[in-house]
Amino acid sequence: MKGEEAFREREASEIIDRLKPRLRPTLEEIRKAMDAFKEIKAIIEGALNETLKGIDYSVELEGSVAKGTAISGDLDLDIFILLNKKDLNNAWLRESVVEPLVRKFSGITGYGVSLRYASHPYIHLITPSGVEADLVPAYRASSPTEILTPVDRTPFHTRYINEHLSEDLKDEVRLLKKFLKSVGVYGAEIKSEGFSGYLCELLILKYGNFLNLLKGIMKWREPQVVIIDEDVATEASELRKVFKSAPLIVPDPVDPRRNAAASVSRRSLALTMIASYEFLLSPSERFFNPPQVGEDPGTLEEVLHSTGRSSVVVIWRMRCPIPPDVMWGEVKSAGRSLANVLKSRGFVVTDIRFWDIEELCLMAAYIEVFKTFDNYVLRRGPPRLGPELLKFIHKHLNESPVHAWVGYDGTPYAITRVGKSFNDVVSEYVNTHPPKHAEVAIVCNDLGCAISALKEKVGPNAHDILNRFIYWLTEAVLKTPPWLAGGDISTGST
Ligand code: CTP
Ligand code: MG
Repeated sequence: MKGEEAFREREASEIIDRLKPRLRPTLEEIRKAMDAFKEIKAIIEGALNETLKGIDYSVELEGSVAKGTAISGDLDLDIFILLNKKDLNNAWLRESVVEPLVRKFSGITGYGVSLRYASHPYIHLITPSGVEADLVPAYRASSPTEILTPVDRTPFHTRYINEHLSEDLKDEVRLLKKFLKSVGVYGAEIKSEGFSGYLCELLILKYGNFLNLLKGIMKWREPQVVIIDEDVATEASELRKVFKSAPLIVPDPVDPRRNAAASVSRRSLALTMIASYEFLLSPSERFFNPPQVGEDPGTLEEVLHSTGRSSVVVIWRMRCPIPPDVMWGEVKSAGRSLANVLKSRGFVVTDIRFWDIEELCLMAAYIEVFKTFDNYVLRRGPPRLGPELLKFIHKHLNESPVHAWVGYDGTPYAITRVGKSFNDVVSEYVNTHPPKHAEVAIVCNDLGCAISALKEKVGPNAHDILNRFIYWLTEAVLKTPPWLAGGDISTGST
């Protein structure tokens, strides 16, 4: 690794200074968002004053618009209906709050309404003026120790950030969010398994500005503990024990029992570290506005072939409507199980990645293996002592022409004839283990087929969707993230 002296901080600062004003929402955007909030609030009160007789509640703006950390062009509202009712449960919320509101907004021309339900029921709205809003019912707790569900913490987060984050730092938060979005690791949802808006705010509070944070990230070691508020902090060693499997631990200053970075996966953390290093070494606006690179499927197939890889694309149509977290959770878990099946059959799985068109409830998975030999595969047995190890060795003892053995690392191995081809294993698995909400699955053995299959689903005129699919496939094959380089194709044959 190059030392800090190689970092081009002056150039990085120049880029950052150019970006800051562009990321700041305009007065016009803020006015439009606030007008939408006022209108929605009045409609909610009109509907709930009838159904919630005697229950004290208030409608409040939370999230990045309330904290002043939203990015220009992306002012989505988080509107909370805070109820003073201790015995809240999902069935009651649905019946007394969510469903009356869905009926109310559905009856107003110009509003797009969808009921969303992952672990907590809420509503997604698009107003006639095009503003998007989540309406989230929650319990109005008097302190974070009194909360009933995780969403009840949100008003405390809004208050904490508004009390601690200065105007200057809001620009730094926006830079960080935009950077992480470009890297694909922004958002606590299952889709990104990344950094929430609140976590971005906390990290900027801790490190003082965007560049300092990037330099700080270069020094992070897993499991990394970042303490925001020393007064409520526990010893780092203790925190590592409590939040055992978390690669990043940031105790929430409003409720230190919770890890505010619980959503950040090892993959997201690794990508963030790489992007931080590369940006500091060769600063470029590319890290904030990555170019989209799309190659034709024939060229990509050639690259795959010449670098010893095979891939399969699976497209699922899920039963609509379905909350994104449910759709992503089911498909990611199917992908992980499929990878395990492939590994246990001796395939070297090099990549599994996912893609969605949320509005059409379509999901795709790209599964890639490294080709070893055509007729034989290496199987790895259970590395721990026990009956499974004996079963593995015994099963493969009379395999021809090589017997099973225990390797230098203590792991049992066997070389066996390939039973089913990669494509057959994937097809069989996809057909026998559909995600719960999947309706149809298509398995494509080459990228051209995948593009045609998607075209059939979305129609030939959905150029925007098809292009995004091609960008995704291009990145899957070339592996170079668009923020890193311009996607230079070289098959290695010249
Ligand atoms: N929230 C929630 N349920 C939703 C939407 C939001 O509980 N359906 C809560 C989140 O837990 C978070 C706050 O509302 O504490 C804001 O969420 P989010 O919109 O993800 O983050 P922001 O800070 O608003 O950042 P962004 O600019 O990405 O909107
Ligand atoms: Mg928000």
